[in-house]
Amino acid sequence: MDNGIIPKHVGVIMDGNGRWANIRGLPRVEGHRQGVRRSKDVINAGVDIGIKALTLYAFSIENWRRPETEVLTLMDLLDLYLRTEIDDLMSKGIAFKVIGDREKLPSEIQFLIKNAEFLTSFNTEMILSMAISYGGRDEIVRTVKKLAQSGVDLRNVDESVFESGLDTSGMLPVDLIIRTGGEKRISNFLIWQSAYAELYFTDTLWPDFTQDEFFSAIHNYKQRERRFGTVPRKVSL
Ligand code: IPE
Ligand code: IPE
Ligand code: MG
Repeated sequence: MDNGIIPKHVGVIMDGNGRWANIRGLPRVEGHRQGVRRSKDVINAGVDIGIKALTLYAFSIENWRRPETEVLTLMDLLDLYLRTEIDDLMSKGIAFKVIGDREKLPSEIQFLIKNAEFLTSFNTEMILSMAISYGGRDEIVRTVKKLAQSGVDLRNVDESVFESGLDTSGMLPVDLIIRTGGEKRISNFLIWQSAYAELYFTDTLWPDFTQDEFFSAIHNYKQRERRFGTVPRKVSL
């Protein structure tokens, strides 16, 4: 069976950078550097095949607990990305957006994010959303606070009002979540939004994740039957 429908919104948990470097006797930062290259490949592959939204998990709220040197190098890589990639995003028609608690980020990076979001805001080919300082539970708690502060009567809240307060507000539902690096867990990524997402796990470490592997994940998704709680379309005996 191949329903032939490509996912509109793909989320990716880009895991395994540290192990990739370790195996090679390199510092973890080299894994992160190579990881950034793979992210660019996947972004380009996504636009090429007509994916409408791509959400990349780049830095979790729990990742703040890593050693300071690693956090600093990750912030440096993010800073470099935000300074150098805008032209490319513009030429491909990609709108850039960050989800997560950006107030925890250095102010310079917050400024660069705002700038990138503003400059790319009219692009319509694909939304690239980067989950940075992001935690699904944290997002849900921030959403409750945001709704309460904006005067919404929480006694009458429903799913669509709640969704309007999430960082992903206005975005398409997540169809497929890919996790590299061998672990089979969600690690606080899009926990509300992934309620009915299809999950795809691969042992490939993120710095080795090629465009072809991305296409394999999409192909695998196309063979799934999504039921959303209803009955199967065909029952094979
Ligand atoms: C993912 O790779 C990148 C981030 C979490 C920033 P890791 O750094 O978690 O790599 P492993 O899982 O230790 O190999
Ligand atoms: C998840 O990876 C976060 C990102 C890929 C950014 P982690 O390496 O932080 O997750 P755990 O600790 O294995 O669950
Ligand atoms: Mg990891």
